[in-house]
Amino acid sequence: MRPPSLRTLHGAQQAQLTFIRRCAPSVSSVKSWQVASCRWQSSTSSPGQQAKKPYYITTPIFYVNAAPHIGHLHSMVLADVIKRWEQVKGNEAVLCTGTDEHGMKIQRAAMKVDMDPKDFCDSNANKFKSLAAQAEISNDFFIRTTDPDHKDAVEVFWMHLKHTLPKQLGLYKGVHKGWYCVSDECFYPEDLVAPAIHPQTGRKVMISTETENEVEWVEEETWFFPLTKYKDALLRFYEENPNWITPAHRLNEVKDWVNNHLEDLSVTRPASRLSWGISDPENQSQTIYVWVDALINYLTTTGYGAKWQGPNHDMGIWPADLQIIGKDILRFHAIYWPALLMALGLPLPKRLLCHDHWKMSGRKMSKSLGNVVNPVLALQRWGVDALRYFLMKSATHTKDMGYSNDLIAVAYNKELRAATGNLFQRIAMPRASAKWSIEQAVEAQRDDSNPVHQLKDIETLESHLVVVKDTVQKAMDNLDPAAATRATFALLREANRYISDEAPWDVAKDPSPEARCRLNHIIFQASEALRVAAILMQPIMPAKMTELLDKLGVKQERRTLEWAEFRKDLEYFGPSVAERDVRRPKWDTLFPPALDGDMSDMEALTMASNFQGDKKSNEMNMMLEVLALEARLGKDVLEQFREKKEEKA
Ligand code: MSP
Repeated sequence: MRPPSLRTLHGAQQAQLTFIRRCAPSVSSVKSWQVASCRWQSSTSSPGQQAKKPYYITTPIFYVNAAPHIGHLHSMVLADVIKRWEQVKGNEAVLCTGTDEHGMKIQRAAMKVDMDPKDFCDSNANKFKSLAAQAEISNDFFIRTTDPDHKDAVEVFWMHLKHTLPKQLGLYKGVHKGWYCVSDECFYPEDLVAPAIHPQTGRKVMISTETENEVEWVEEETWFFPLTKYKDALLRFYEENPNWITPAHRLNEVKDWVNNHLEDLSVTRPASRLSWGISDPENQSQTIYVWVDALINYLTTTGYGAKWQGPNHDMGIWPADLQIIGKDILRFHAIYWPALLMALGLPLPKRLLCHDHWKMSGRKMSKSLGNVVNPVLALQRWGVDALRYFLMKSATHTKDMGYSNDLIAVAYNKELRAATGNLFQRIAMPRASAKWSIEQAVEAQRDDSNPVHQLKDIETLESHLVVVKDTVQKAMDNLDPAAATRATFALLREANRYISDEAPWDVAKDPSPEARCRLNHIIFQASEALRVAAILMQPIMPAKMTELLDKLGVKQERRTLEWAEFRKDLEYFGPSVAERDVRRPKWDTLFPPALDGDMSDMEALTMASNFQGDKKSNEMNMMLEVLALEARLGKDVLEQFREKKEEKA
């Protein structure tokens, strides 16, 4: 169904406004606001019958003034990983990403290259769309704020703000005088701007003390949203929901802002200054503020405007279960957005995850410094899953993250090639003389009378396998994929140490039945480590872990979280898998050799076309020794090297 057009809105305005008035909250309902637990009703369920709504997760929508960089990819991957995690848990999940295309910043960028703004947006939005596809982002929606259904949603929202709220809570007209920052697309209060010298031109300018971007003085007639009237409701909401933002310390920043800097929000710009945006449906000379326009994207995808318009309707997948944002856009999502939703009586998103930023050589990535990482080249160089792994392993949410090819190379060689790919190679594809197979090892476990169950004095990986699922689950439910990668890698490192110590190739030389039993036991421990790790790592490396689970012959329906337990599945690696893998060429490894980290992405990609394969088998052996050593010491030696390097940077 098409959303109501503007004409419908005008034509049926009386009826509409009557409806809108009915839905509007009273002052007291705003005051007593809490995160509403509105239930989703599936369209097929009968009235009163409630169904669990899908988990709805969003990324910020990206400005299209420039091409995407690694930070944008980070937001997308983080959201995708959490969506896929919900799916591994067996839940339905929906992910929305997209592009933010209106506002002064885009208007000026298009003008600079002498392009029509819409053509300019079309071209750049495609770059973000294509990046999402290349990075295996499983987004269900890609919203563009220039889409007609979004325009309709913004207009419906706007009409509510203007016409249906109690007088002191709705929009009012006034003259706005203040410092506007085009780069950040927001006004800054007087106490958060300061004079500075423009580094390139030597011009005296005013800048935001937060972002150091230039601000300009603006004095114009606009509509205001009375944000200050929502102060108490906001503060009460934060008090009642102390875990609303992850990490928790971000909530203090938000409270501080609300307590000390809150001002009413100017929510239109005169069209004479800003024409590239959505106009006030009742007055084309005013253009709606780009942040109000942009935030509503999260509702557009739920069918707001077209399918529902108020809290008494079936709100589809709204409210969002999780909104992912970078630290620079915290205020918009943790103050403006909840206040706007409160104004309309709509439930607030259930949770925000605020991530830090990627830096290069210790400095903020910026075009003028020339240190912006092109995510497309990085994906091509390292492979989609390896880059996703590196981003997530670094996603700590407590400090900025340092991007460097050296660090990616270390993680790639140690954690992916050696600990994961080579472990599979070691146990699944033994030399013909080795006389073991995963198939036999799993089969022996199925048979209760098999002597493998009577083995004494032999180490198992059980204690590690028993805890890993819970540790990863806790980490992922705490939105901490870095901790999840650490736990999984620790298991694989232990499994590699175990294989080195137990040396199945030596045991295989002994033809006795007891030795055969030992072999089956050893191989089973390691294959369980791989099976469980692969299930747990699917959200982070969807393609590679699917490949690994396929190689292990794990059935499709046994790849959800409940199966990530020691001995839970004893029906994998059947005869057809064994035969298929024996015929696989030796070089067809899960994580092929990569070039050194000290080259730029461009150099590495050029060299890769001439690369002949792995000539460095000694390097792999050394890496295996490092893994075994680390497992014995119980610490990550190379991780310490990484931290030292980051400190230096
Ligand atoms: N259009 C707004 C968001 C509107 S959401 C209703 C915007 N766009 S942005 O393109 O500038 O930024 C999008 C996201 O990328 C933000 O979450 C931002 O924090 C993130 N990143 C921008 N630079 C980054 C890094 N260097 N590192 C990690 N993330 C970064 O803001």
